[in-house]
Amino acid sequence: MTDTGKTGIRNKVVAVTGASSGVGRTAALALAARGATVVLGARRSDRVERLAGEIRERGGRALALATDVRRRDDLVRMVDAAVTEFGQLDVLVNNAGIGPISPLDALRVDEWDDMIDVNLRGVLHGIAAALPVFRRQGSGHLVTVASTAAYRTVPGQAVYSATKTAVRTVCEGLRQEVGDTVRVTVVSPGFVHTDFVHAVADPDTRAALLASRDAMALDPAAIADAIAYAVAQPDQVDVNEIVVRPTAQR
Ligand SMILES: NC(=O)c1ccc[n+]([C@@H]2O[C@H](COP(=O)([O-])OP(=O)(O)OC[C@H]3O[C@@H](n4cnc5c(N)ncnc54)[C@H](OP(=O)(O)O)[C@@H]3O)[C@@H](O)[C@H]2O)c1
Repeated sequence: MTDTGKTGIRNKVVAVTGASSGVGRTAALALAARGATVVLGARRSDRVERLAGEIRERGGRALALATDVRRRDDLVRMVDAAVTEFGQLDVLVNNAGIGPISPLDALRVDEWDDMIDVNLRGVLHGIAAALPVFRRQGSGHLVTVASTAAYRTVPGQAVYSATKTAVRTVCEGLRQEVGDTVRVTVVSPGFVHTDFVHAVADPDTRAALLASRDAMALDPAAIADAIAYAVAQPDQVDVNEIVVRPTAQR
């Protein structure tokens, strides 16, 4: 496959939310290494600034923006920055997500709200910001990082699973509505070795998750590769769902 023009990754402008750590950071590096221009968003702006600097030092093109996906305007600013600075937006990777999981019985209602705001509303804000640009361009690609929790829930993950199931559904609806011009991909990781577990409040649950993460979680590069695979396909190839889990995960 030729890695130029609209086929492949080179020359594409890709915005990534949650690029300050884990999957988002690794995906941004992988895409930049393959010639994409990257627009990096996260709340920890120092981290995305540093990452953009690293990419530029290696000869790539990158821009960093403080972005909170709970704020619709931040996504609009991110998309506008891609178009203003680089002339287009080819791909938005809706990656930002949180997982402060707990049993429903613990009534951590604020954390339920946080997951809905970041994991679901954040993705909707990304879609709302990118869609008009994709329509105007006549092309675009929305890649959303969901989870194996979008396919199967387990005790403690009801709300997290609900948000991930919801974004998977939204993306399928989006594909049916605009799939003629916009490619729609959902990448669903199993356990990945990132900082994700740190948000879990209950110390015993967190310790158990950290132990199982350290025993079996995937390197985030496995998820970055899946994202890169979907982005690299020729325009007429729409990779809709990819599930990547550790072999040890049930
Ligand atoms: N790790 C896993 O086992 C696993 C499994 C399945 C799915 N996932 C999904 O993978 C995605 C990435 O998670 P990760 O594993 O890489 O975890 P991570 O290392 O904790 O990274 C999460 C990223 O999301 C960003 N983020 C959180 N809240 C945000 C907000 N309000 N606005 C903008 N950015 C925000 C964080 O940046 P700031 O804090 O700087 O804003 C960070 O860059 C998430 O959608 C997660 O649900 C992870």
